[in-house]
Amino acid sequence: MISRQAKAFYFAAMIIPMGVSAWVYRTLRAPPSGNKRSVRVHLGPGQRGYKPGWINVDANFLSARIDVWADLRNRLPFRDDSVDVFYSHHVIEHLPDSHLSFHIREMYRCLKPGGVIRVGGPNGDEACRNFLANNHDWFSDFPDKRGSIGGRLVNFLLCRGEHLTILTRSYLAELLEQQSFDEIVFRVPVTDTGYPERLTDALSGESESTPNSPHTLLVEAMKPKLRS
Ligand SMILES: C[S@@+](CC[C@H](N)C(=O)[O-])C[C@H]1O[C@@H](n2cnc3c(N)ncnc32)[C@H](O)[C@@H]1O
Repeated sequence: MISRQAKAFYFAAMIIPMGVSAWVYRTLRAPPSGNKRSVRVHLGPGQRGYKPGWINVDANFLSARIDVWADLRNRLPFRDDSVDVFYSHHVIEHLPDSHLSFHIREMYRCLKPGGVIRVGGPNGDEACRNFLANNHDWFSDFPDKRGSIGGRLVNFLLCRGEHLTILTRSYLAELLEQQSFDEIVFRVPVTDTGYPERLTDALSGESESTPNSPHTLLVEAMKPKLRS
């Protein structure tokens, strides 16, 4: 893993070019508001997650394959009411907690009415449950091997300081309800989706070693459709 300092330096050095890149894309290339195409956006694909047929957005252009270079802490590089689906897997926990509400509002702004999000990240509820049950085996040795149950909890939730918030059902529901998202459903097993026609090809990278106590908290939600 790249050190926190190196990442902080990268984000500080790239703040202006990344902002310009996002602005240029949003202004000149992004699908127009109210378009009739199927616009699917994959936020934070990382090094191996590039999805053909999706618009892949990441801050990392050095080792990740991407279509749009942008910082997800800022305004998303899409126009209002222009996106059918946002898919984000193990990304939002890397955004500062203070930016989470804004990021969710941004997804809402860019979605067409009836558009959906599928967002997943480390499952804070299950981590606490397994910590209280003293279940060492639920926790992995990534990124660090820790012997104690408390150490294993910290390792999972903070990931050497890479994670900047803790995701639980009640917190995500609160953030989504604040932005008027509808149809908020937490998916268990995590490979379930309410929107197979839009999302099936995105789910191939998702798996779970403990389906009844998933490591990933996965939520889907919809921007309300326009009333006719
Ligand atoms: C843990 S990886 C997840 C990769 C993949 N989605 C997966 O599930 O394996 C987190 C990704 O989020 C991206 N990311 C983190 N903070 C970001 C930010 N502020 N703006 C844009 N991308 C960011 C990283 O570059 C990285 O590609």
